[in-house]
Amino acid sequence: MDNAYFEVMSKGDLIDRGQLDSFEKNLARYVGTRYAVGLNSGYDALHLSLRAAGIGPGDEVIVPAHTFVATCSAVVNAGATPVLVDVAKDFNIDVDLIEEAVTPRTRGIIPVHLSGWMADMPRVMEIARKHGLVVVEDACQSLGSSIHGRRAGSWGLTGCWSFYPFKILGGYGDGGAITTNDPDVALFARRMRYNGEDRHTGEYHGHGYTCLLDNLQAAFLDVKLRHLPRWIERRKAIAERYRQGLGDLPDLLLPHYDRPGFDHVYQNYTLRSKQGEEFSTYLREQGVEVLTQFRKPYYRHEALKLVDRGFPETEALSREVCSLPMNVEIDDEEVEYVIEVVRSFYGQ
Ligand SMILES: Cc1ncc(COP(=O)(O)O)c(C=O)c1O
Repeated sequence: MDNAYFEVMSKGDLIDRGQLDSFEKNLARYVGTRYAVGLNSGYDALHLSLRAAGIGPGDEVIVPAHTFVATCSAVVNAGATPVLVDVAKDFNIDVDLIEEAVTPRTRGIIPVHLSGWMADMPRVMEIARKHGLVVVEDACQSLGSSIHGRRAGSWGLTGCWSFYPFKILGGYGDGGAITTNDPDVALFARRMRYNGEDRHTGEYHGHGYTCLLDNLQAAFLDVKLRHLPRWIERRKAIAERYRQGLGDLPDLLLPHYDRPGFDHVYQNYTLRSKQGEEFSTYLREQGVEVLTQFRKPYYRHEALKLVDRGFPETEALSREVCSLPMNVEIDDEEVEYVIEVVRSFYGQ
């Protein structure tokens, strides 16, 4: 990492240099797409994907009711209307509810792969084909996960990535990317991230944005990407230890779904506890750092002016959700401590 830093800084290579190019090539290879385009954030990846697909005013886009708000904001800021659909027990969009949300105005769908576990992409793609919908994958939380060996971010028109520091591949600030097999989409994103400019000819091809991935961030991410497979193995080992240590507690729903061919990379180890906030508060009091995303569903924030069509699963899991510590920095002893604390909450 130090080498990457000095290499970039000694030459002042801050914008659009070889490190960005290298990271894009390695990311595309890892995901299994022809192109990757480095951007400023996951939000920008979603927003540019919708624009590249020509989605805008008058169009509807289906999004899950349980996700980070940026999934939905990208739709609104593209000028389209988000139509929310409830999620299933695995926190991802309930594929059995998608078709009833389709109207003559529906143009796209954004399945979100939350916490390292992919939405049911074979079903999503089948529904999209049937109704002629564009699929933009919000893969911001699932780099490395796959279904039958096909990676997240390689199914839809685009895969959208975030390298926000909390992510499985985190930079040292904001970062994002689009992966795609479509040369026109890649070209569109390359121009739009640079205010619409074609960097070779200087021609502006539209009113764009300033949302390029910094070269220094790209250099860091390129180094980290090489370690990702090993880090994912460590995450899986921690998840397995949690399963062994907590699997017998009846009030917990653990994130082990055991669907053949689906590979969970555990960006987050998000469980559900019937005791909700009381459970999370107890863990925090014992020094266990937990995340409770998202206690208040985004559609309940009044300023967003979204339509709540009734999402019982999202409502239930929002009360119960709790993510246990999951990262490659924690050691086995700390994992055992977490298990001990969770068991003690249940008097075990
Ligand atoms: C599911 C999901 N979608 C979109 C985003 C937006 O990414 P960013 O914060 O890089 O804009 C994130 C992460 O923050 C996310 O977790």
